[in-house]
Amino acid sequence: MRLDKFLSDSGLFTRNDAKKFIKNKKISVDGIFITDPSFQISENSCVYFEGRKIEPYHNIYIMINKPSGYVSANSDSRYPCITELIDHPYKNDLAVAGRLDIDVTGLVLLSNDGNFVHNVISPKKNIMKKYKILHDGILNEEKKLILTSGIDFKEYRSSEAIVEIINDKEFFLSIHEGKYHQVKRMVKYIGLNLIKLERTAVGGLNLDINIGDYRLLNEDDIKLIFGY
Ligand code: URA
Repeated sequence: MRLDKFLSDSGLFTRNDAKKFIKNKKISVDGIFITDPSFQISENSCVYFEGRKIEPYHNIYIMINKPSGYVSANSDSRYPCITELIDHPYKNDLAVAGRLDIDVTGLVLLSNDGNFVHNVISPKKNIMKKYKILHDGILNEEKKLILTSGIDFKEYRSSEAIVEIINDKEFFLSIHEGKYHQVKRMVKYIGLNLIKLERTAVGGLNLDINIGDYRLLNEDDIKLIFGY
């Protein structure tokens, strides 16, 4: 691959800047400053710019703790988007693996790897999503049973869910699906008034960062999501 293309693909340079920096002897390949933008590099070449190693374009996987008021997307005409909280050269390539409503907080996964995004949201993969619910009612045994055994909505029947009580006003609800407003609809169906909704886990991956923060996922994190 041409050196100028490698640099612009890295997301750190425009093609013109890449050419300019190469001509100004700012880019070294395997320890030698190269001045020809068409210089061919191999997969194993070590490319440096001002002491910083330039990584080839690669897949990235991100967890973000979405604040309320942000849209789970990378562009919106009215509201701020979660990608505005991310500082990464590939941020415009990121797709959201399972949106949260604007007023919902918590764990959102993003990636530039289309297969990953597909697998997280595909019903066939059965990935559990866990939500923490704050309400101001009483979750009695009857209501709990309705949640856990599935609810008949007009267009679909929600499948079985897991309920874990935290205290009088909070519980966790874990579901495999991700239908539109699903948790809100389930909570409303049993007559509870939802005050706050937060996604706390996807598969076995727990939210472990503060609101508004993000972090790159590693291989172990990804194994936790899919369970293998
Ligand atoms: N269920 C909802 O109702 N909203 C969300 O954002 C996620 C799950």
